Amino acid sequence: MSAQIIDGKAFAGTVREKVAAHVTKLKSENNITPGLAVVLVGEDPASQVYVRSKGKQTVEVGMKSVEHKLDVETSEADLLALIDQLNNDDSIHGILVQLPLPKHLDEDLVINSISPAKDVDGFHISNVGLLGTGQKSMVPCTPLGCLMMLRDHHGSLSGMDAVVIGRSNIVGKPMAQLLLGDSCTVTIAHSRTKDLPEVVRRADIVVAAVGRPEMVPGDWIKEGATVIDVGINRIPAPEKGEGKHRLVGDVDYASCAERAGAITPVPGGVGPMTIACLLANTLTACCRANG
Ligand code: GUN
Repeated sequence: MSAQIIDGKAFAGTVREKVAAHVTKLKSENNITPGLAVVLVGEDPASQVYVRSKGKQTVEVGMKSVEHKLDVETSEADLLALIDQLNNDDSIHGILVQLPLPKHLDEDLVINSISPAKDVDGFHISNVGLLGTGQKSMVPCTPLGCLMMLRDHHGSLSGMDAVVIGRSNIVGKPMAQLLLGDSCTVTIAHSRTKDLPEVVRRADIVVAAVGRPEMVPGDWIKEGATVIDVGINRIPAPEKGEGKHRLVGDVDYASCAERAGAITPVPGGVGPMTIACLLANTLTACCRANG
């Protein structure tokens, strides 16, 4: 079997178009402009790229974008004071603090200082609890994007066997909650899982979110399964020239695509959906704030 490619880039484009149309309506009918504030502490190059891309796309859909770039040595008190100011700013509907934070800052404390209603990452402990109990919450963007692609491809996911590889708070755990919410039978596999290949071979849906380049080979994939690759790994590509890199996912694309029924590519799969979902979450936060 040769897998159908799930085009996350195109899908993200349609999500952004829908968000932009809604923003236009909010502006003209209600005189409201959704606003997203992104806070970046330090100069991590990958984070800088993400933040720039988020800011650009926020403006493109007609929203207000505010970026706060803070020195790597910013104190916890100063960061918390900025978040407090943003929590109380009525023109800001979504707040995102780019992770990872420098070591001297307590990530949990910082995330939990964001107003849950403005927590467009869905990382606040209240949103985590609401998602886990099936209540209305802000849903983390990457797993939300994966779920949207899965629903679009399959329609109903009810009764499917899903294996999520990776147990991070950002992707693995919320992904498992979302799949459970759609009535999948869910397994969370991780570095201590016994016989990972056998566990993955049972899956109708495989979500790989471990951050290890090309870790999942094709012979772990059940014939016809859907493979969602969350990994974005930069590996050396000497064939492209000295010092060059290329992006690969957490699955070995060529061999997995031979067995899967459908697969997301890297790049152009999950990545673009994450930012599109951030914009959708900001719109949702704005609509909830304004009744
Ligand atoms: N760093 C890597 N992924 C994310 C994300 O989804 N949100 C935030 N805030 N930081 C990240």
